[in-house]
Amino acid sequence: MLSTELSCEKLDLTLDEVMARLPTLAAPIDDTALNDYLDQLYALGRLRHIPNISPQNVTYLHSLLHQRQPKNILEIGCANGYSTLRLWQVARAWGARITTMDISRPSYLEAQHHFKHCQAHIKLHFGNALQILPTLTGDFDFILIDAQKVHTLDFFIRARKLASPDALIVIDDVIKFRDKMTNFYDHLHTHAIAYEILALPDDQDGVMLID
Ligand SMILES: C[S@@+](CC[C@H](N)C(=O)[O-])C[C@H]1O[C@@H](n2cnc3c(N)ncnc32)[C@H](O)[C@@H]1O
Repeated sequence: MLSTELSCEKLDLTLDEVMARLPTLAAPIDDTALNDYLDQLYALGRLRHIPNISPQNVTYLHSLLHQRQPKNILEIGCANGYSTLRLWQVARAWGARITTMDISRPSYLEAQHHFKHCQAHIKLHFGNALQILPTLTGDFDFILIDAQKVHTLDFFIRARKLASPDALIVIDDVIKFRDKMTNFYDHLHTHAIAYEILALPDDQDGVMLID
């Protein structure tokens, strides 16, 4: 039985200790095995206080991916790679390319490890998205922004330059951290950029969609 309860104490684990608590994946990796691995990575992430997207958010993102079938996905802020692998879990069916990044060295190294273990071909960058994004070339047709909330506007402006005309941009945590994103909301209103917010009660937050 998986525990998704947040413990009071943060569980500190080395990467070897993390891997020892996860199921071993053997090729070929089927959907059931991958799902089990990711469920357990999420449960462990809760104990380690990693702010991974919630199961309800995963379900929602999966439905968006099925609807839109994006070919070139960009994520800003992958942490241990959990959300990236959740995107890949669905988008691999149509061979989508996925690019992600994180500024934290331990997160980058852990994400790299999980991607390799899951045999997921994901382009992973280490460093500050504010510097990485201007070095990328578009056209990304699905963009998930989930990094430092005070820089949401900076990520958005840079990401938008890389977006295809039909891109969907999804921004996570836009309700709970609204006070950290006031310049972002101001920008949307000033530039008459339409957005929709979907509340995710399990997450006690919500995502913003900009189409
Ligand atoms: C909310 S967590 C991401 C969770 C991840 N999307 C998931 O659901 O599994 C935010 C991540 O953004 C990273 N981050 C914060 N500022 C960043 C920046 N300027 N450039 C790249 N990554 C950044 C943090 O290191 C952290 O791992």
